[in-house]
Amino acid sequence: MKALRKAVLPVAGLGTRFLPATKAMAKEMLPVVDKPLIQYAIDEARAAGIDQFCMVTGRGKTALVEHFDVAYELEATLRERNKQTELKMLHDAQMPPGAMVAVRQQVPLGLGHAIWCARAFIGDDPFAILLPDDLILSDVPCMVQLARAYRETGGNVVAVAQVLHEHKSRYGILEVGADDGRLVEVRGLVEKPHPDDAPSDLSVIGRYILLPDVIRHLAVLERGTGNEVQLTDGMARMIGNTPFHGLRYEGRRFDCGDKIGFLEAQIAFALRRPEMADAVRTFLKTYQESA
Ligand code: G1P
Repeated sequence: MKALRKAVLPVAGLGTRFLPATKAMAKEMLPVVDKPLIQYAIDEARAAGIDQFCMVTGRGKTALVEHFDVAYELEATLRERNKQTELKMLHDAQMPPGAMVAVRQQVPLGLGHAIWCARAFIGDDPFAILLPDDLILSDVPCMVQLARAYRETGGNVVAVAQVLHEHKSRYGILEVGADDGRLVEVRGLVEKPHPDDAPSDLSVIGRYILLPDVIRHLAVLERGTGNEVQLTDGMARMIGNTPFHGLRYEGRRFDCGDKIGFLEAQIAFALRRPEMADAVRTFLKTYQESA
């Protein structure tokens, strides 16, 4: 089994659900407390031992790559002013030379197409996918949990969560085989089915570890749900050839592509920060809407 060293981050989306904030700014640069969504995803991947990154970007997304670059003038100014804490923050975000590449998805043909755009980076290696909109608050980073499951099973692993009946049409849904309560065998996958046709109530959330074979299946560029090339369809074609499991991860997921999910994430993450938890709690208890 090859070690997991690579991650692909599809970040070419237009962020229409967050307009007007995302008119001139990448949605993945929106901060939760004080860190942009993209940095949460990268930090989570690094915690799992991943050290090679590929962003699949589009027009207007250069800030995402710059965020991980060396900010020479800013660092010089901070050093002059002896701002050690701020300097450390910058260094924590910075990528070692050559650790990050960006490829362009010129046209928005779907998540499967975005991953296929990273095929040269992926080569013959297993790789992780992190969708930065899905932010997960957990004691053990979700990708660390998935990487353990990958080492256990030697095959494809996706993070899964139970969803409400009426929400099944928003996700990739599993058809489930053997289930030990933590790991479930994936027998089938359907992208955004009608709730009444969904094979289970287990949905795929935005964390995957896949074998490179998926690229061969995506390369046919067949359109699926929403007339897009779906990653779910590419993954479904691997079932039966290689082990495929869903992992019920421990943690709470926030859909930061959605305004309410994003606000909930702000509060939940702020409550985890010792220096601000008390102030946030007090505000939530005492705030009265004024006329
Ligand atoms: C994508 C995938 C879907 C998955 C979801 C998780 O959908 O296509 O299978 O369940 O991410 O967030 P999207 O949210 O891009 O519509």
